Amino acid sequence: MDRIRIRGGRPLKGSVPISGAKNAALPLMAAALLSEGELSLRRVPRLADIATMAALLGQHGVQVLPEAPPSAGPLGQTLRLNAANILSTRAPYDIVRKMRASVLVLGPLLARMGRAEVSLPGGCAIGTRPVDLHIAGLAKLGASIELVDGYIRASAPGGLKGAVVRLPKVSVGATENLLMAASLAKGTTVLENAAREPEIADLAHCLVAMGARIDGIGSDLMTIEGVPTLRGADYSVMPDRIECGTYAVAAAITGGELLLDGARAELMESTIGALVEAGAEVASEPAGLRVRGRLRPRPGDITTAPYPGFATDMQAQMMALAAVAEGASVLTETIFENRFMHVPELLRLGADIRVSGAAALVRGVDHLVGAPVMATDLRASVSLVLAGLVARGETIVNRIYHLDRGYERLEAKLVACGADIERFSA
Ligand code: EPZ
Repeated sequence: MDRIRIRGGRPLKGSVPISGAKNAALPLMAAALLSEGELSLRRVPRLADIATMAALLGQHGVQVLPEAPPSAGPLGQTLRLNAANILSTRAPYDIVRKMRASVLVLGPLLARMGRAEVSLPGGCAIGTRPVDLHIAGLAKLGASIELVDGYIRASAPGGLKGAVVRLPKVSVGATENLLMAASLAKGTTVLENAAREPEIADLAHCLVAMGARIDGIGSDLMTIEGVPTLRGADYSVMPDRIECGTYAVAAAITGGELLLDGARAELMESTIGALVEAGAEVASEPAGLRVRGRLRPRPGDITTAPYPGFATDMQAQMMALAAVAEGASVLTETIFENRFMHVPELLRLGADIRVSGAAALVRGVDHLVGAPVMATDLRASVSLVLAGLVARGETIVNRIYHLDRGYERLEAKLVACGADIERFSA
């Protein structure tokens, strides 16, 4: 079992190449199912979740070919996806349970093939993660859907029909599934209260490159004119704003200075605002974002919200920063019901945190002390790495397979900026 050992106390200095966004690449890969043409995706990060999606698509009959020769460059990989021959419309439980984003094949399969049988994903560490909004939306587009033996069994033999779909709750995945399905539906679909995360705009731009007709990209009201078929395209994945925010916190928490190469400030306004409130200096440069930490962070209250609010995927990272701030902060998690799994582990490092319902009161301490800790989910695990970078002594992070799902070459990127961090097996 791989672990990570970190010896804290070194201010990070240097530049970090930001990879393509995991949460854009996953729906973009699923979009390949919509077309008989070849979809070429550039800047795809080398992550466990990407490999899982490639395996899932492969068992549907999609050819997923890495570029040859594989580039070792920092800017990810190019994947060529060809879904000319779909062999199966069933997404099995043993893959879906490993990665919830597997549910994103539901809309494309239904739209392209008129049927799909996708395992219910089940819950995960951060919550029950239902998919009722996906199902209700697809039913509005004319699909008949039943839940049988833990599977979503959907069919639309005559094809999907455009409709007005008002999402009762903001959902990234439901918006993505419905956007892809509507692209091939007959007639016009209006998505109301659509999620506005930048990864959805990235998906929409790629669908337009494939021939889809979408208005209102980036807003909470999208209108999609269905087309009979979609062609292949060549598309480059947007940079990962959450990876970028994570390294920005690394600069702030260690009192160092990092250039986040390839970052796009306009996608991270809420994160930048929180970092500036914590006393970091953040400057946009042609190459990306420069973040400079101060001796000790200032406290600040944060409440997560759908984009453009503060990203729930940055909450754990900001809690690590708050843990060493010169005062008390309140972090409120409004998106997921169980996204404080990093708290007991941060307490092991000497943090002073009290959770009451959806709110965590974090009283900054003078310093953290390294200890063995346990990763529980992707963002919780990276918050432990951030805490270890500033803790006195040695921190061992266990179960780092969680990290590998969402952070490409984490140790290498940190070592290049002066961190004392290494992966080892034990
Ligand atoms: C996406 O998950 C991201 N994953 C998550 O990132 C991210 O935290 C989340 O959006 C919120 O921004 C990917 O893009 C692959 P939601 P998703 O549907 O689509 C409830 C990471 O760390 N809900 O916007 O699953 C749901 O339970 C991951 O990279 C329903 O009730 O999130 C949650 O409380 C973690 N019914 C809220 O809505 C539904 O049908 C938001 O979920 C769907 C969702």
